[in-house]
Amino acid sequence: MELGSIPKIGLKFLGLLDPERAHRFALRALQSDLLPPPQEPDDPVLHTQIFGRDLANPIGMAAGFDKNAEVAEALFRQGFGLVEVGTVTPKPQAGNPKPRVFRLTEDEAVINSLGFNNDGLDVIARRFSAFVYRPGLLGANIGANRGAEDAIADYVAGIDRLAGLADYLAINVSSPNTPGLREWQERANLDSLLGSAIEARAKTAASTPLLLKISPDLDRSHIEAIAEVALRRRVDGLIVCNTTIGHRQELLSTDRGRPGGLSGKPLFAPATALLAEFYRLTKGRLVLFGVGGVKSAEQAYAKIRAGASAVQLYTALIFEGPDLIARLKRDLACLLEADGLTSVNDAVGVDCL
Ligand SMILES: Cc1cc2nc3c(=O)[nH]c(=O)nc-3n(C[C@H](O)[C@H](O)[C@H](O)COP(=O)(O)O)c2cc1C
Repeated sequence: MELGSIPKIGLKFLGLLDPERAHRFALRALQSDLLPPPQEPDDPVLHTQIFGRDLANPIGMAAGFDKNAEVAEALFRQGFGLVEVGTVTPKPQAGNPKPRVFRLTEDEAVINSLGFNNDGLDVIARRFSAFVYRPGLLGANIGANRGAEDAIADYVAGIDRLAGLADYLAINVSSPNTPGLREWQERANLDSLLGSAIEARAKTAASTPLLLKISPDLDRSHIEAIAEVALRRRVDGLIVCNTTIGHRQELLSTDRGRPGGLSGKPLFAPATALLAEFYRLTKGRLVLFGVGGVKSAEQAYAKIRAGASAVQLYTALIFEGPDLIARLKRDLACLLEADGLTSVNDAVGVDCL
């Protein structure tokens, strides 16, 4: 059997399983190096630098796939230029009751209400320090435990423990599956959270970049407040965006009414518009990562042109399998070259000038 056909057969098989079981299989396949790594080296036009690190390409694995830092090295081997582990909370937790992940095949979307199921900071920090193969940018996404009495202390614990181990930290205030979490996006709450986060980082020996991962379900006043507070508190970047609790009326699948966050195709247009808005409001002074609904190079390119220095994805991988990574990169290089560009960086934000 041709090695290249393994992902296709595997994908069909995984599509028949309950999504969480399929996810566990995918993790085991990555851990055992069952998936052949892509053969082609990245086109030099895809090379970029973020936070002083060299990335062979700007395509990243979004948070939520490797929640427990089990397969980050294998994900780099599959060709990602950046990998974000987590969300990690201080204490381990089981998350919400199952079933809590639904594939909406007709809509090329997923609804999840996982609720930060993860092994906790101690275990994950230990795994993080054991990573050897990290050819790109390796981030950690941090959150608060469900029902935390002092959520700021939870974020500070994540910073204390993971600064220096991760190349950047993503402060997640945007998961819809932890009650109250999104309230940290309110101006006064965000201001005190980011104030404490910046202070906590200053106490560590590392100057690990801090990014804020935001929700797509924001009104105008929230968007302006987040941009203003992020700039004033001098965070290093924004990740735009997490899953949405809206956009259900556009869906066809019978599972469209499930509670949780919606990701995939229906998120692309609103997430990209929001990204462009943040690029305009922050005037290119923050590093932006574009996430939401990307499954083609045209869409990745649109995010870059809207202001993203890197593009992350998750849901499209569930439907397309790991071949998607090589295809995206190959086609993105063609798009950049067709526009006469010699680097990804030259395209960042050009649609917002
Ligand atoms: C099953 C699943 C679990 C996720 N878990 C997390 C998480 O733990 N932390 C986080 O910040 N985002 C999480 N996300 C959101 C993704 O990182 C991403 O922001 C979102 O899915 C939009 O990208 P996509 O349309 O390419 O999937 C999760 C998404 C999915 C589908």
